Amino acid sequence: MAKSSAVINSIASYLPEKTLTNHDLTKLVDTSDEWIFTRTGIRERRIAADDEFASSMGAKAARKALEQAHLSPLDIDLIIVSTMTPDYLSPSTAALIQRDIGATRAAAVDIGAACSGFVYGLTMVKAFIESSIYSTILLVSTEKNSAFVDYTDRNTCVIFGDGAAACVISRDGHGLRIKTTHLGASGEESDLIQIPAGGCRLPASSTSFDDKLHCLQMNGKELFKHAVRRMEEAINICLKAADVPASSLRWLVPHQANIRIIDALAKRFSIPEDRVAITIDMFANTSSSTIPIALEKLQQTGQIASSDLVLLTAFGGGLTWGATLLEAT
Ligand code: ACO
Repeated sequence: MAKSSAVINSIASYLPEKTLTNHDLTKLVDTSDEWIFTRTGIRERRIAADDEFASSMGAKAARKALEQAHLSPLDIDLIIVSTMTPDYLSPSTAALIQRDIGATRAAAVDIGAACSGFVYGLTMVKAFIESSIYSTILLVSTEKNSAFVDYTDRNTCVIFGDGAAACVISRDGHGLRIKTTHLGASGEESDLIQIPAGGCRLPASSTSFDDKLHCLQMNGKELFKHAVRRMEEAINICLKAADVPASSLRWLVPHQANIRIIDALAKRFSIPEDRVAITIDMFANTSSSTIPIALEKLQQTGQIASSDLVLLTAFGGGLTWGATLLEAT
């Protein structure tokens, strides 16, 4: 009997209304549109409203993805949510989304792989579907980064934005088939990007609050060096497993952390600009949501045709990284 494949049947995103431009940020910190754009490729980012959360944004994207797939919430067996900005430490954001969309049959779990969460999630989904444990899975990436960013720290506040995306992934069918995938991690460099307080190691206190230890801290320069090398490594392994040369790729859909990282990566594989998905100018770094948001934009604009090969690659806190090769069916 032929082995079943995991296929992304539908993909949808939710981006908050409010736009924060580089010019707006110059009123908060000592920066400029010129610095931000030339160093990162970012022009603006979306910021969630006070009454929007990882769960509510994720639920909006999930409802759209289900509608597109012509499925009911009751068809979902499992909900996996990737987020580094959950509503609560407990319960999981997946449980809240399960409640909000009424997917009462579904199991629900969060995964924490920072910006690599979508690629980590796809890999888990592939394993669950190919082993016939589950048939229909909702994978959601949702991030309210603005709740964890210190808007007096110019090193971080210019980089991040908010947003969510959701995919319905089923056994076989029409869409984007998950061909090969590779994941990596290195906890040795876990201190390069952190939210230090709020966990059991440094529980919330007036000191942790005064010292802004509940906000995201990062060593951008060091992360930059790891990002290109790690994604290159993952891409090589993923393409080799599929026996596919980089020249056959229709699209590279990289994590959107910095346009200079993306350009360096594309150059290493001689992938021309018009085959690289870019959304960083409009939405900045939405952590694990960048890749599915970029993928949705390609689909929405009819830029993925049957039998196209699409390579996703991610890098983020942990450190974590990965690559996943998709084929349009
Ligand atoms: N505006 C103006 N000047 C600034 C700003 C700003 N917003 N931010 C920093 N600077 C200054 C610095 O203070 C420094 O000044 P100094 O030389 O007087 O000390 C100078 O600009 C250069 O700073 P660098 O940190 O060296 O700037 P760099 O070119 O490295 O860009 C950036 C910083 C954009 C953060 C970059 O390093 C980067 O993108 N790193 C990778 C981030 C990443 O991949 N993160 C992982 C994924 S995210 C996740 O997992 C959630």
